[in-house]
Amino acid sequence: MIRIENVSKAFQTSKDEIKAVSHINLTIEDGSIFGIIGLSGAGKSTLVRCINLLERPTKGKIFLNNIELTALPPKQLRKEREKIGMIFQQFNLLEQRNAIRNVCYPLEIAGVSKKEAMIKAEKLLKLVGLEDRMNNYPSQLSGGQKQRVAIARALATDPQVLLCDEATSALDPNTTRSILDLLKSINESMGVTIVVITHEMKVVEQICNRVAVLDQGCVVETGEVKDIFLSPKSRIAQELILPKNKGIASLQGKRIVRLAFDGQSSFEPVIANLVLKCQTMVNILGASTEDVGGKAFGQMLLQLPDDELAIARVKNYLDSIGINYEESDVNGI
Ligand SMILES: Nc1ncnc2c1ncn2[C@@H]1O[C@H](COP(=O)(O)OP(=O)(O)O)[C@@H](O)[C@H]1O
Ligand SMILES: [Mg+2]
Repeated sequence: MIRIENVSKAFQTSKDEIKAVSHINLTIEDGSIFGIIGLSGAGKSTLVRCINLLERPTKGKIFLNNIELTALPPKQLRKEREKIGMIFQQFNLLEQRNAIRNVCYPLEIAGVSKKEAMIKAEKLLKLVGLEDRMNNYPSQLSGGQKQRVAIARALATDPQVLLCDEATSALDPNTTRSILDLLKSINESMGVTIVVITHEMKVVEQICNRVAVLDQGCVVETGEVKDIFLSPKSRIAQELILPKNKGIASLQGKRIVRLAFDGQSSFEPVIANLVLKCQTMVNILGASTEDVGGKAFGQMLLQLPDDELAIARVKNYLDSIGINYEESDVNGI
């Protein structure tokens, strides 16, 4: 378990002090995939660097398994840090080493023999699907392949936690998906706790269980992804999540529901069935749904008829098929 207790970090510049993160309290449970989302400059990287003390908090404490990292002497801290791996947007591979020797690097630093390091690195590169690219240098690999090498390298010291700072932000949507799938399978098969830093809600939707929303260095909202996704409370979460619909103002006073798809089968024709079963017409005002491996993620804005009975049938139907929804106030969209 990671516990962030009242952590603040300020940077001193020649002119003034920049408060990058302020009074952060978060608990990240073992085995979870925890998202930290916010716009650029919100303090995400600073916060994640505070977790492994790449950045020392100005105030507050960091705990890993109830050991206070912020109180450890350097040697013990180095040992504890081996339990935390990290990957970055720009991969940060060593250009002069090939893939397998990149993965060996942290093992060599930890004093593992060269032979043992090679055996382990080979196993990890197989795990990330790069068995045929072990001898390639970073310049010979695609972005997705480089991130796979970085993931293998981060796993080399058998970490309990993997910190991912915008790990998919430099990748195209398909590659992003495959890297997120890989992270999820690592979480499930190895039990590694994953902290995902991102500015993209779709990344959070795809793999996270819980999420904290960061704005101007403060956590403004935290909870289960499906809850925040369904009814974001903070202005910044609304900005990140709600579909941007123009021209909705003209529909004021009409009944609108927002459906949240969080992994239902995308092969089910939900809206067609709804119309047939509820014997009513609905109007799709906007949708931002995505098919991820045969499952639907995203949301849809429906306008319902001004008929209380029909509305009740629609709600019953949505309840019966397990789709979350809320009635939207058009002014709140
Ligand atoms: N080393 C530093 N020195 C001075 N200011 C910094 C430093 N690192 C980050 N900052 C500032 O802290 C704020 C948060 O930055 P950062 O954590 O990188 O945000 P994010 O990762 O969410 O984009 C920004 O205003 C940034 O300019
Ligand atoms: Mg950042």
